Amino acid sequence: SREELKNRVEKLGYEISQDYQGRELHLVGVLNGAFMFIADLARHLRIPCQICFLQASSYKDKQVSTGEVILMHNLDLSGKDVLVVEDIFDTGLTLKHIKEDLKMQKPASLEICTLLNKRIQDKIDIYVKYIGFEIEDRFVVGYGLDYAEKFRELPYISCLD
Ligand code: IMP
Repeated sequence: SREELKNRVEKLGYEISQDYQGRELHLVGVLNGAFMFIADLARHLRIPCQICFLQASSYKDKQVSTGEVILMHNLDLSGKDVLVVEDIFDTGLTLKHIKEDLKMQKPASLEICTLLNKRIQDKIDIYVKYIGFEIEDRFVVGYGLDYAEKFRELPYISCLD
């Protein structure tokens, strides 16, 4: 619900602020799905941060991954403390690509924060430092998440089926 999201994102913001105290954090939001999450999360940080974005797409109006991830960005993260902010960790394919891509820029640190972690079998094993909610294997929309570009505007998260 709206309330649960608000409370959890506030707690994540607090936790991240504690962990990165005395450092400047570079939040890298994964478009399009993470736009609402990163906006709310940033408002709960108590440390200086910079906010930038990269675009990742792997779903083409379908509910299953196409297996192909396309990344687009113009980032320079060398020597920075980087936190990738993602909407949902499903198979892990997207985050695997993002991690490999950003690592090449040699950031000082590179961690991941995902709002949702879907419980599925055969996930790619990636360490995700911050997780908002564990969810079952259902297709969800709202709070930035879409189905064929629809429902992103919902202030809560809902199952599509
Ligand atoms: P992965 O590469 O399989 O981990 O998928 C990650 C991306 O797929 C996310 O960034 C979402 O854009 C999309 N995705 C995965 N599951 C869902 C869902 O349940 N609803 C909406 N988008 C999803």
